[in-house]
Amino acid sequence: MKLYSRITGTGSYLPPRRLTNADLAAELATQGVETSDDWIVERTGIRARHFAAPEVCSSDLGLEAARRALQAAGAEATDIDLIIVATSTPDMVFPSTACILQNKLGANGSTAFDVQAVCSGFIYALTIADAMIKSGAAKKALVIGAEVFSRILDFKDRTTCVLFGDGAGAVVLEASDTPGILASDLHADGKHVGILCVPGHVSGGKVLGDPLLKMDGQAVFKLAVGLLDEAARNTLAKAGKVAADIDWLVPHQANIRIMQSTARKLKLPMDKVIVTVDQHGNTSAASIPLALDAAVRSGKVKPGELLLLEAVGGGFTWGAVLLNL
Ligand code: UT7
Repeated sequence: MKLYSRITGTGSYLPPRRLTNADLAAELATQGVETSDDWIVERTGIRARHFAAPEVCSSDLGLEAARRALQAAGAEATDIDLIIVATSTPDMVFPSTACILQNKLGANGSTAFDVQAVCSGFIYALTIADAMIKSGAAKKALVIGAEVFSRILDFKDRTTCVLFGDGAGAVVLEASDTPGILASDLHADGKHVGILCVPGHVSGGKVLGDPLLKMDGQAVFKLAVGLLDEAARNTLAKAGKVAADIDWLVPHQANIRIMQSTARKLKLPMDKVIVTVDQHGNTSAASIPLALDAAVRSGKVKPGELLLLEAVGGGFTWGAVLLNL
């Protein structure tokens, strides 16, 4: 019998501190940085984001999301034999955030590792978990995207600091005799490292370089629109499907204009696109599982429906996953 993987539960968590654009603009104004609700809404669609308290790490946010996903799946932490955390804001240089989270959750003994593919991290992690389940290497996985991007923002740079937020999302992915994940498509092109990066590192007990996010927004925007379309089409073709078959597009939540343009290219109406960027901002690897969980819990997305998940991010990385919920 052929083995597949299927999502059996979703969960998410946002830290309680919520800042509207007006709240953020007022805070930035005290540093002499000028922005406005109108500019942020018009250029990005973002209205609010959540920031974690200083002592809260990615593993804490991921832990809450994982607990909720386990509850939704009717599973126990001790059932889990694989944990993958997609994050670009790990708790430590090492060990992995997945190991830290595993211990907090009480899933000790499972395989646990992090994936670093920036905003495409959840798509990468889900594809790896799917492959491990299909190969028999795992039976019940937690795939988590967790970020505290507020830690790597330069609050003097208004072109980036208004865009990102903190949060986590998770899914339980289980072995199944009916498909779940139908196809996926992953890519990277390292020649674009410089357009979206945090060019700092630790050496000799010091932080060298600049450990804050740098982005050429227009270059990212242009590249993103083409690559998302390519990933969507490749993934659909691998599964013998067409865009019209999709019930829901669950894109990485970076900018409403990128989502509108992707939907337009696929000839999908915006009412088939899950949008949470207005309330979450860009939470990098957490954005897709956060959006998915919001859509599942609101009753919008239902079991059996066909979902296309897709993302682009620093690296440059990009990819998509097509699945039946
Ligand atoms: O996860 C993937 C990560 N990133 C992305 O997906 C981001 C992709 N890029 C974008 O979303 C957009 O390029 C941005 C939202 C970052 C910028 O939007 P834009 O329409 O490309 O604006 P722009 O960079 O061309 O800037 C237009 C103007 C500039 O002023 P001048 O030169 O026209 O006078 C900026 O200085 O807007 C100004 N500006 C701002 N004004 C108020 C830039 N940031 C702000 C701000 N508030 N926060």
